[in-house]
Amino acid sequence: MKGKKLPALTAYDFPTTRLLDEAGIPLILVGDSLGMVVLGYRDTTSVTMEEIEHHVRAAARAKPNALLAADLPYHSYQTVDEALKNARRLVAAGAEAVKAEGGLSIEPQVRAIISAGIPFIGHLGMLPQSVLEEGGYRVKGKIEAEQKALLADARCLEAAGAIGVVLELVTPAFAGELTRQISIPTIGIGSGPDCDGQILVIHDLLGLFPWFTPRFVKPKLNAAEQMRAVVEEWKSSI
Ligand code: KIV
Repeated sequence: MKGKKLPALTAYDFPTTRLLDEAGIPLILVGDSLGMVVLGYRDTTSVTMEEIEHHVRAAARAKPNALLAADLPYHSYQTVDEALKNARRLVAAGAEAVKAEGGLSIEPQVRAIISAGIPFIGHLGMLPQSVLEEGGYRVKGKIEAEQKALLADARCLEAAGAIGVVLELVTPAFAGELTRQISIPTIGIGSGPDCDGQILVIHDLLGLFPWFTPRFVKPKLNAAEQMRAVVEEWKSSI
């Protein structure tokens, strides 16, 4: 997939997974963005293993041709044993790959997951599971120290055998540079056009979560408005 444009989207249920698969999306992620766009939490840190498993099972029932990946939620991979146990739970629920946030800081966990035969996707840059520690969603890679750390993390994931790495809110220039420096595909979100792939939260693409839209997303549909209009029309028609 390196060098090819890889489109990826999130899905959290059966119909969305089936629709995205029928539209030919090759990578579908049951992301922990589930917490905000489906479960109504403030951020991803409240999402539990049970919640992710429940939605992975629903998505997997669509039997997509796409690779179905799932996020290891907050604090579910703090030790190697936990990471392995929880990655296996996601696979048992129907995930074909797992994603977790971090590079060098979780290298033993990543290596254990990959050694167990579970494909692994990394996640670098802005790490939503660290939003509370970081005090917000901040662009990464503006300064040399951050660029060095990102490159070291990306190389660590590459050497461990990750199948790809999500780059979230990395400066477009450095995301492009990183993409050229590593052999595994980069999948950008808010990181400019020069990554190998792009991933979005499906609700952001469809305008289905009108109360918050990340500034790097231009929704292609106003699904929330259309829904309101249809419901109001139906209400007044009965
Ligand atoms: O949780 C999520 O949806 C993600 C993204 C990269 C979209 O991690």
